[in-house]
Amino acid sequence: MQIRQVTADERTDTMFPLQTYAFMPSPWGDADRETYARRMRYYETAVSLVAEEDGRAVACAAAFPMRQNVRGVVHDMAGVASVATHPSARRRGFIRELLTRLLRQMRDEGCTVSALYPFRPSFYGRHGYVGLPRVRTATFAPAGLAHLVGAELPGEVERLPMREGFDDFNALTLRLLGERHGFSVYDEVRTAEFRDNQRWVAVARVDGEVVAAVTYRIDRFGGDLVADDLLTTGPLGRALLLQFFARHVDQVARVIVTIGTDEVPELWGTDFPVLTQGRVEQPRRSGPMARLLSVEALGGTATPVNEAVTVEVVDDVLVAGCYQLTGEGGRLTVEPGKNEPRATLTCAGISALAYGVLDPVEVVTRGLGRVEASAVGPLSALFPKRMPYLFADF
Ligand SMILES: CC(C)(COP(=O)(O)OP(=O)(O)OC[C@H]1O[C@@H](n2cnc3c(N)ncnc32)[C@H](O)[C@@H]1OP(=O)(O)O)[C@@H](O)C(=O)NCCC(=O)NCCS
Repeated sequence: MQIRQVTADERTDTMFPLQTYAFMPSPWGDADRETYARRMRYYETAVSLVAEEDGRAVACAAAFPMRQNVRGVVHDMAGVASVATHPSARRRGFIRELLTRLLRQMRDEGCTVSALYPFRPSFYGRHGYVGLPRVRTATFAPAGLAHLVGAELPGEVERLPMREGFDDFNALTLRLLGERHGFSVYDEVRTAEFRDNQRWVAVARVDGEVVAAVTYRIDRFGGDLVADDLLTTGPLGRALLLQFFARHVDQVARVIVTIGTDEVPELWGTDFPVLTQGRVEQPRRSGPMARLLSVEALGGTATPVNEAVTVEVVDDVLVAGCYQLTGEGGRLTVEPGKNEPRATLTCAGISALAYGVLDPVEVVTRGLGRVEASAVGPLSALFPKRMPYLFADF
């Protein structure tokens, strides 16, 4: 078996059959192949690897160059996707080898974190990834937000086809990349494809400044308004978008909107019936997962306390080692560990702390490491729990 990096154009002959068999209804027709080939101009910057046997691609994996905010620091991120093996080549370790090589290459090219959507989280747990929260949806009748219909809010919402609203929408995502923990975006090459999404975008502005936006579609008169991520910079932006939804009261029966774990829809109104749900099941609806590709890259992360802990990271070819983590003057520094480690963590364990999804006790109970009792307090204080919101779907 040989691993080879292929260009975007080569993906149609090598990766398309593997991916389409794995993820799409099949057998496929010529039209599916042509659609895939046309889309490849948006994959020019992706790193695509195939494993070949006798000159034929039998497994593939790719990474998009992306960026992600982890506790206020924007990292270059490898967004892993297109992972598939031909059924007759499965369980021979091809994906293990492809992923190992892909992550090393992305790290060498400057990526310090990686994320993906797993078909089965335990599979990627072995590659150092830890689970992040899955998005939820809030489902409600617009009548529940009647109090907002006539409210005088200092701003306005404009409804545009995606093609026209794209620049404002994209600029808002770049702003949120700098402001919101976990938020991630594609590079410009990949993002360009979304300009043609068949969606409306509602853009909320205050004094001309974009403060919130949401993309959506309406399935039919009297049916559902199905909205994607509710992107807001604060409460006023959210109120403007909710007011916009409320004004669909005689047009749609329900609004279904995607939200993060920090949204509490039952507090959006009084006497407001709402169903908030987050379904997780394999293989199609897992939460995303993420991992560090460098522990040193945590240097500069905001941390609220002055504490120092030496940790050892084990069982990982990219980040294994001994590190001293010191919080001082509001920032974390990472240096080679000089003292005896007070915690032994897997890559998933240190990633869980960095991303804020587990505290040190949970890291232990989940089997992602050992932490001495004296280190539980300092590690919890250095890495307070804080739920990330990934946004990008890939
Ligand atoms: C998932 C898939 C890519 C795995 O490919 P593969 O080439 O069989 O994987 P590997 O042989 O490299 O497996 C690596 C390890 O994971 C294990 N593994 C493989 N498939 C697994 C599964 N479905 N569940 C749990 N463990 C699995 C292997 O036993 C192996 O364990 P080891 O490291 O202890 O030897 C392949 O089954 C596939 O194409 N599935 C359909 C598409 C899909 O789900 N893609 C993933 C999208 S995120």
